[in-house]
Amino acid sequence: MDAALPSPSGRSTEAAVVRSPGAPFVLSPVTLSPPRPDEVVVEVEACGVCHADLAASAGEMPFPLPGVLGHEGLGRILEVGSGVETVRVGQRVVVSSASCGHCPQCLGGAPVYCQDWPRLNLFGGARGDGSDTLAGELTGEGAHLHGHFFGQSAFSRHLLTKARAVIPVPEDLPAAVLAPLGCGVMTGVGAATLVLQPAPGDRVAVFGAGAVGLSAVMGLKLTGAAQIIAVDIHDSRLELARELGATETINARNVDVAEEMARLTQGAGLNGAIETSGVASSLQAAISSLRASGICVVVGVPADLARAGVDLIELVSKGLRLVGTNQGDANPHTFIPRLIELHRRGRLPVERLVTSFAFSEINDAAAASSKGQAIKPVLHMS
Ligand SMILES: NC(=O)c1ccc[n+]([C@@H]2O[C@H](COP(=O)([O-])OP(=O)(O)OC[C@H]3O[C@@H](n4cnc5c(N)ncnc54)[C@H](O)[C@@H]3O)[C@@H](O)[C@H]2O)c1
Ligand SMILES: [Zn+2]
Ligand SMILES: [Zn+2]
Repeated sequence: MDAALPSPSGRSTEAAVVRSPGAPFVLSPVTLSPPRPDEVVVEVEACGVCHADLAASAGEMPFPLPGVLGHEGLGRILEVGSGVETVRVGQRVVVSSASCGHCPQCLGGAPVYCQDWPRLNLFGGARGDGSDTLAGELTGEGAHLHGHFFGQSAFSRHLLTKARAVIPVPEDLPAAVLAPLGCGVMTGVGAATLVLQPAPGDRVAVFGAGAVGLSAVMGLKLTGAAQIIAVDIHDSRLELARELGATETINARNVDVAEEMARLTQGAGLNGAIETSGVASSLQAAISSLRASGICVVVGVPADLARAGVDLIELVSKGLRLVGTNQGDANPHTFIPRLIELHRRGRLPVERLVTSFAFSEINDAAAASSKGQAIKPVLHMS
């Protein structure tokens, strides 16, 4: 395990580098490491912007900076390592997160619960053995330009990833639809259909109507849930939630959310809730809105974890279940093709969430997302 392997000396490209927490994205020349036998180089066509990218750029996630973010990469395979047999040069692929491939979870078809997931995708900022995948002029002497964010660092014209992380996708669908499938859409639809799995007639709610929350609403519409209530602080997002399948909406700015939930469910309470806002008070409102034996699926991680106090007396006395999910529990290799099939049949209108930006407009895309103006910005590299 050598952390001092030679610097990357492969392909030159351009990536959006964040130098320090809170600094802007700066398009900069970088060099990718040549692919190892189990890796591929992808020419990036587009990449969605997820809240996790913005949180990491602000220093709110355990990813080391300076570094390159981006984890909803879509592109074409340009080069394959000597041992790659599963994919070939020229294939169009969505890039998913990194996993080891040999732990019990990976072997059991749950790569998002790989026992090495946090280090491979977040706090390592490098390959599993500590070697860098990127080098750039912006790093000072001895400093590393960190890459391998979610195993890819896709805010770049080219990326390096494991062959096992890429999923071939059709040629005929627009980049703006395919890129967000890799994280935000997969997570929301997975949280609804794989984790919560409401029974026919259930009353359920989604807290936070951003990219993940609206995807959860679309996912819940595919289930037998009778009542789907969306909560957000932007009326425009709630209006879109109704168009995508919400039966009722609540603007959390105006009311006590738990009280309003009780009113909308005629005092019955919710069978299930999906929390995507990452706001501590919203998590508590979601839990308080559940009926006995209800399930709260936690997707958003509150930036201020200390404030995310959970009323354990309520949890125990009502027999509630609090369930976390990474990437909606989905195996991207089997779930992304299903999402594509749903989209083709008009049952997953991902395009309703998307605003397209040129790669050079990455800071505008980030600002539009933070201000609530763009739900799912997608950057197009050419
Ligand atoms: N667990 C996972 O695998 C996973 C995957 C993707 C994203 N995430 C996390 O999920 C969260 C959502 O991601 P996103 O890309 O949809 O972000 P987003 O910013 O698009 O959505 C968050 C939404 O919450 C709303 N909101 C803010 N305060 C609120 C409140 N008090 N009550 C209700 N709604 C409120 C915002 O207006 C926004 O619409 C983020 O925390 C992100 O880091 C987790
Ligand atoms: Zn994400
Ligand atoms: Zn593993």
